[in-house]
Amino acid sequence: MSHPSLTVNRLTHSIGAEISGVDLAAGVEPAVAKELVDLFHEHQVLFFRDQQLDDVSHRDFARNFGPLQHFAFLPPVSEDVPEVHAIDIDGAKPKTANADIWHSDATFLEKPPLGSMLRAVILPDVGGDTLWASMYAAYDALSSHVQRLIEGMTAVHDSSNSVSHARKTVNADYRPVHHPVVRTHPVTGRKALFVNKTFTTRLDGVTDRENESLLTMLTDHVRSPDFQVRFHWTPGSVVLWDNRCTQHYAVADYAGRRRMHRVVIDGDAPA
Ligand code: SIN
Repeated sequence: MSHPSLTVNRLTHSIGAEISGVDLAAGVEPAVAKELVDLFHEHQVLFFRDQQLDDVSHRDFARNFGPLQHFAFLPPVSEDVPEVHAIDIDGAKPKTANADIWHSDATFLEKPPLGSMLRAVILPDVGGDTLWASMYAAYDALSSHVQRLIEGMTAVHDSSNSVSHARKTVNADYRPVHHPVVRTHPVTGRKALFVNKTFTTRLDGVTDRENESLLTMLTDHVRSPDFQVRFHWTPGSVVLWDNRCTQHYAVADYAGRRRMHRVVIDGDAPA
């Protein structure tokens, strides 16, 4: 049953809901937090507008969805709130963050994040939208022949393409990891396609030629608008996504500064 104060506006058939009727900075009661956790599992991405979060209330609200990581690949915004880091891009310079390639966050880890919560701090005048795609919908749209083909298959996820600068930051060697190509969400039980262009480098157990075609087909599948929702950020926007069943893409089409603060929620080994 829906909490009476919350209004839920679904944005597409397969992914995303805008939630209003809640003041995140004020802290949410346990009943509302439970409802939001259920909505998170149902819609995969939750959008909130006109919020007044600062770094502390951002962190505290995110804790309703699980323990937070000290994300090692970007520096914290302050020592007081080490869970919050910034993604700060000057649109006038060449963009180096690689967020304009479809991805789930940090799938090169044995335990990739459960999810992330991103908040707008400085926005460009125009542009800088973010898209999310449902990897449940992507999986469901594959033919039963391809679904059978990839069932039980694993793939290599490797940070070397995109976070070599971050590796230097943490001074650690992240070895490639193997994750299932089809992941079962631990809460909903739904199957999600779990390969992405940024970090998945090789399907296991197939020839090079097979890999070239099949991995490309699977990682490009996310591009269908049928699985996507696009969000235009405004001051006070906050977005929470489930990294286990979605991918996202930050459109690099802006000329001004774009600063976002993010927290990352701890995840499990995909199964
Ligand atoms: C990210 O890839 O986590 C950042 C997305 C964004 O900046 O919109």
